[in-house]
Formats: sequence, structure tokens, C-alpha cells
Amino acid sequence: MNTKINDKISWVGYVDWNVRDFHGYQTEHGATYNAYLIQDEKTVLVDTVKSHFASELIKNISELTPLDKVDYVICNHAEIDHSSSLPIIMQKLPNAVLVCNASCKKALSAYYDTSEWKWKIVENGEMLKIGEKTLHFIFTPMVHWPESMFTYVPEDKLLFSMDAFGQHLASSERFDDELQLNDILREAKTYYANIVMPYGNQVLKTLTAAANLEINTICTSHGVIWRKNLPAILNAYKRWASGEIEPKVLILYDSMWESTSRLAKAVYAGVLEIPGISAQLLHVRRTSLTEIATAAMDCGCCAVGSATLNTLQMPMISAAMTYLQGLRPPIKHTFAFGSYGWGKGAVEEISTWFEKVKWTPIQDPVKCIFRPDADSLEKCREAGRILAQKALEMTKN
Ligand code: FEO
Repeated sequence: MNTKINDKISWVGYVDWNVRDFHGYQTEHGATYNAYLIQDEKTVLVDTVKSHFASELIKNISELTPLDKVDYVICNHAEIDHSSSLPIIMQKLPNAVLVCNASCKKALSAYYDTSEWKWKIVENGEMLKIGEKTLHFIFTPMVHWPESMFTYVPEDKLLFSMDAFGQHLASSERFDDELQLNDILREAKTYYANIVMPYGNQVLKTLTAAANLEINTICTSHGVIWRKNLPAILNAYKRWASGEIEPKVLILYDSMWESTSRLAKAVYAGVLEIPGISAQLLHVRRTSLTEIATAAMDCGCCAVGSATLNTLQMPMISAAMTYLQGLRPPIKHTFAFGSYGWGKGAVEEISTWFEKVKWTPIQDPVKCIFRPDADSLEKCREAGRILAQKALEMTKN
């Protein structure tokens, strides 16, 4: 595995082939926790790994330098996947000073016993000379946490970007030009949808700040290092952060005895009558929340349907809605549908949720008792056509 980024910077992180659940995010292709070692007049470790993999990080560092030679450990982000090995690392690197911002120190001190650590607290824009190279700290609040920051090395035009531009993707390759670009961008999109989506405005501010920097290499904290396809990932982030939508309609549903399923398929058929618009028909018990979020990320129109179960909507509809409520996809137009037997409830719950998340219904909901009749199916088909027209208009704007 090529871990050399240039003559003075090496990757020393960990490839986690086996992780499949990253706080609920289904990481079907594993993950990496990237850490980097800079060997200049000063020796600097940039970021660390999950606590389980601390010994691997220590092994990787010690293959390059004696542990007592490490002068600084930079913590760009306090989230546990990057910081939970710090208590071990700070013990194993006896001369290291932890470099972070004040907000990061507060978070780390809440999580860990930091009483023995030596600190250097940096301000936004501060520079730290480490020999030939300089470390330039740029705060990027809410990308992904309040304390998040980038570390930029102007001499190498290299950005340590923390979570930004990352992907949950385990591979033996470390660089974007060693894998298929489409595979990397697909994982970057899934990552953006499930981790970064609520912070689009902050991402745009970060991209504006990054536009003033000359960047040849982006060393992310997850996945591959970008050194060839930077325009592809930077343009994708611009589109995603701006809430740019694709010409499509998303249909989310759950069904007990196929009645709501038939309504969902009628909406789907209506969408496909409109040229240029595609549809995603997702049964929420057969689709992970991770995939649902990714489908919603670039979508302006979404129909939601559920059978009524004990006067309520089906439980996985609630889960999908709760997840999307937090992630705030750019959906504007919507439509509720569902079925019931003797007690209504599901469609009413869905409609209440639409009010909460400010999705505007295109028409009254369609509710059928036991089995959809021809009229209910046609109303759903018509709703599909209307949603598709709305999606077309939104895409043109
Ligand atoms: Fe990879 Fe926000 O942590």
C-alpha cells in the first residue's frame, strides 16, 4: 500500500474493512480513519483514529520515527471516530503537544481525562511554522461539528480537510486516481447525505474560504486522498451544498397487505408519464435509512404512503421521517397516501409531519379503505403526474 503523500508527509491511519454500522449509517463498503505524519524540523501527527485501532496507529508512526520525536498532535475534529484514541496516543507520545482550538479543547476535556496533556490552543487563521512547512489553521464550524477546522500546508498546496470531501470506503488504495472515480463519488454522495447534508450553508462558506487557497491535494479523514479529481469533488460539494436537485420524484411507502403498495405504484406510474423525470420507489422496510437519505438529498418532490397499523403509521415510516427531519433534504412538494381498515391514522400522521418539516402537499391525501378502487388509483396516478411536473419546473429553475 502506497502511504507516501510526498517526501515529508505519510498516511498512518487505519482501514476498517469490517465496520457496517457507523452510528446508524450503514457502511456497506467499510471505512477508513485517516491520520497523517509530517516529518519536518518538527514532527507532527495530524488527527488520530478510533480507540480500537490506536495500536495500529502507534505501529505505523513508530515505523517512521521514534515516538518521543513527535512534537505536535493536531486535532482538527473532536468526534469520537477521530479522537477516541487520543488518551492512548498522548500517553505513548511523551513530548507531544495537542494542537486544537478552544472549542475542541472543551469537547475533548468533556470526553476524556486530559489533565496530563500539554496544549497549544490556536485561533482561526493562525500559522504554525514547523520547519520548511507551515500549518495554517482554518476554522470550519459545523463541517462537521462546531469545533471542526482544516489544516492547510501552503508549501505543498495540501489541505487536511477532516470529514469534508470524505467517503466511507475501505480500500487498499489511498489515492483517488487508483480507484474508479464513479465509485468514489457514489460513496462521497452517500457520506454527504448522511453526515453533512444539514450543514449546506456552512459548507458553502467553507468552500468560499477554500477557494482562496491553492489546493493540489486534499487529505480527508475518511476514504481516499484527492490528488487528481479535485474539480469533480469540489463541484459535487458545490451542487450538493446549494441543494441542487435532480429531475426525479421519490416515493417512500410501507404496506401491510399490498393496498398502500398499489397506491405507491400508481403514483410511480403517474410520474413516469412525464418525459424527462425519473422515479425512485422505495419500500422503507426493504431500504436502509442510509439509502433513503441519499435518495432524498437531491430531490425536490416526494410522496409518502403508509398502511394504518393500530391507528398509526407503520413504524419504519416514522423512522424514515425522523431521519429526514434531521437531515433536511431540499424537498418542497409532497403528497400523502395510504390505506386503513376500521380506524384511520397513518395518512393523518404523515400530513402532520409534512406541516412540521414544511413540505407542501400538492393536493389532498388519498386514503382508501381496505382495497384501493379505480378512483383512488387514478388520484394517485394524477398526484404522480403533478409531482413530476413540479420536479421538472424545479429542475429548470
Ligand atoms: Fe468522521 Fe464527524 O467525524
